[in-house]
Amino acid sequence: MANALYGKIQTFYDEASGLWEQIWGEHMHHGYYGPDGRHRKNRRQAQIDLIDECLAWAGVTEATEILDCGCGIGGSALELASRFGARVTGITLSPVQAERATERARAANLAGDIPPWARFQVADALNTPFADQSFDLVWSMESGEHMPDKVAFLQECYRVLKPGGRLLMATWCHRPTDSLAGPLTWLEQQQLEWIYRVYGLPYVIALPDYEAIAHNCGFTNLRAADWSLAVAPFWDEVIASAFSPEALVGLVKAGPGTLQGALALAPMRQGLQSGLIRYGLLTAVR
Ligand SMILES: C[S@@+](CC[C@H](N)C(=O)[O-])C[C@H]1O[C@@H](n2cnc3c(N)ncnc32)[C@H](O)[C@@H]1O
Repeated sequence: MANALYGKIQTFYDEASGLWEQIWGEHMHHGYYGPDGRHRKNRRQAQIDLIDECLAWAGVTEATEILDCGCGIGGSALELASRFGARVTGITLSPVQAERATERARAANLAGDIPPWARFQVADALNTPFADQSFDLVWSMESGEHMPDKVAFLQECYRVLKPGGRLLMATWCHRPTDSLAGPLTWLEQQQLEWIYRVYGLPYVIALPDYEAIAHNCGFTNLRAADWSLAVAPFWDEVIASAFSPEALVGLVKAGPGTLQGALALAPMRQGLQSGLIRYGLLTAVR
């Protein structure tokens, strides 16, 4: 299963990353619009604010060895390297992303041998090439939803963290099913299936499920938060910018996967608005 899925994820990001960078910039994640989602701001600023807010929420004020699991074109990694003076290793399934992130690190003077630096490679977050206890921060910004085995993913994060090191992840989830709303309905499952197909996701889980998995892996000091309200305006912004002539031409040129991704923007927004799709944060200490 992982091979077909990984091929799909690689193709999706190989094809879409150039256009995303051209239209939306280096961060391939949601933006933060205040706790209630009512602060209006520039989209790129909102994306940088999300990084700030995640770090503040988790109480991360320093880190020297960071693993960025699912690094995209290095948006977070370069930010974290310069902010903390850190050595950041970014991994992605997309060779195009790894190459572009490396170019961006060079342009930002973050490619030398003396920290801060950021290096990028193609590697599977479920089975990384790093030694046990290599990092003091594992950062995963919107990559957990792609992982075909959430348990193996969190186990690998635990393995590569030093004792006392911290996991900080933000990920797409579905609503908890232990409330009065009960299990996912057939319609909700169909809506999710469609989003999975378009974005190369095997499945998503509820935030309490991530907490349980992290707990079973041995993580301590677990905290989780639902930031769906805070990030919801992001999709309006993306939809609005997708209608510029530049974006429309780029979408057609980039290939069918990217075009399908654009067609799924409205269902994603609807999913967040209806409460089916949730934006989950999880932090924990090894
Ligand atoms: C939505 S992008 C997020 C990129 C980046 N974190 C950001 O915020 O700009 C998801 C990323 O997860 C990566 N990814 C998905 N599955 C992965 C896996 N099994 N191992 C490593 N990276 C993976 C993709 O290649 C892509 O870079």
